[in-house]
Amino acid sequence: MKVVALVVSLSSLPAAYAWGAIGHEAVGYVAMQFLAPNALSFVKSSLGATYDESLGVAATWADEVKSQAAYRWSSSLHFIDAEDSPPISCSVVESRDCQNNNCILGAIANYTVRVVDTSLSAAQRQEALKFLDHFLGDVGQPLHVEAAAVGGNDIDVKCSGSSTNLHSVWDSGMINKLLISNYGNSVTTWANTLVTRIQSGTYKASAASWISCSSTTTTETRSIEEDISGLLKPRAITPLACPHVWAAESNALDCSYVWDYTQFSDLCSSDYFTGAVPIIETQIAKQGYRLAAWLNVLFDGTATA
Ligand SMILES: *[C@@H]1O[C@H](CO)[C@@H](O)[C@H](O)[C@H]1NC(C)=O
Ligand SMILES: [Zn+2]
Repeated sequence: MKVVALVVSLSSLPAAYAWGAIGHEAVGYVAMQFLAPNALSFVKSSLGATYDESLGVAATWADEVKSQAAYRWSSSLHFIDAEDSPPISCSVVESRDCQNNNCILGAIANYTVRVVDTSLSAAQRQEALKFLDHFLGDVGQPLHVEAAAVGGNDIDVKCSGSSTNLHSVWDSGMINKLLISNYGNSVTTWANTLVTRIQSGTYKASAASWISCSSTTTTETRSIEEDISGLLKPRAITPLACPHVWAAESNALDCSYVWDYTQFSDLCSSDYFTGAVPIIETQIAKQGYRLAAWLNVLFDGTATA
C-alpha cells in the first residue's frame, strides 16, 4: 500500500483514490440517511455550505489533501498493512500491523476522540469529522487492509480494456463500471438504493449484526457504545474492537475472493466483476451504516436513530 501516492501522481483521474471518489461519496450519502438528531445537526453545522452539509460530499477531502505538503503525514493513515499471506491465510493483528498507531485503526481512534473534543477549534473538529467520514470508508476496502503485493498495487490486470492494477480495480474500476451499468452513473441513486436495501430490502436482516462488532474471524464482541465509552473515558488511544472487527472482515475478503484474480486478465469484463459486485455493494452499505452508528453513539448516545 505504501506506493499508492506515486500511483496517484501518475494518474490524471481520481481512479487511484481509495475506494475512488465514488465509493467514498456513497459511504457518506448512505450514512446521512441514518444519523440521529444530534449527530445530524453536528454534521450539518460542522461541514456547512462548503460541503453542502453532507458526509457524501466531504468524504473525499482526505484523499484530496494527502498528497499536499501540509497533509502528507496523513497518507499512511488510509490503510493498515496486514502482514498476512492471502489467499492462504488472512489476519489483522494490531500490534504487528499498526505500530505507533500509525495506520487507519490508530487514526479512527484519534479522530473519534477529537471530533467530540470541545477544547478543539471548529476547524479541527471538522477535520476530525472528514477523516472519520473517509477512514470508515477505506477500512471497508479489502486492499486497504492488506500488505501483500503493496495492497494489490503490484498486481497487473486490466479493467474494461485499460491496463491497471488490482488495487485500483477495487478502488474504482469496478465501481465506475457498476455505476454506469446499473445506476445511470449517479452516486446518489446508488446510495439511495443501498439505503432502501438496509431499511426494507436484502440487507435489512443483517443490519443489526453490522454494528454489533462481532466477527467470525476474531473472538471480540463489543458494542459500539462500549468501544467509544472506553475510548473517551481515559481520553487515551486504546485498541478499539469495532474498527478492528471491520478491518478483519475486509481483510478476510482478500482470502475468500479478492486474490482469486487472473493476472493480466480484464477483471471488469469477466466473472470476477460479477462476483465482486455484491461484495462491493455490501461493503459500501455496511461502512455507511457503521459511520452513522459511530457518530450517533458519539453525539446521541445510541447507535440507531
Ligand atoms: C491525531 O490527529 C492530529 C491532528 O490531525 C494529528 O496531528 C496526529 O498525527 C494524529 N495522530 C494519530 C496517531 O493519528
Ligand atoms: Zn483514503
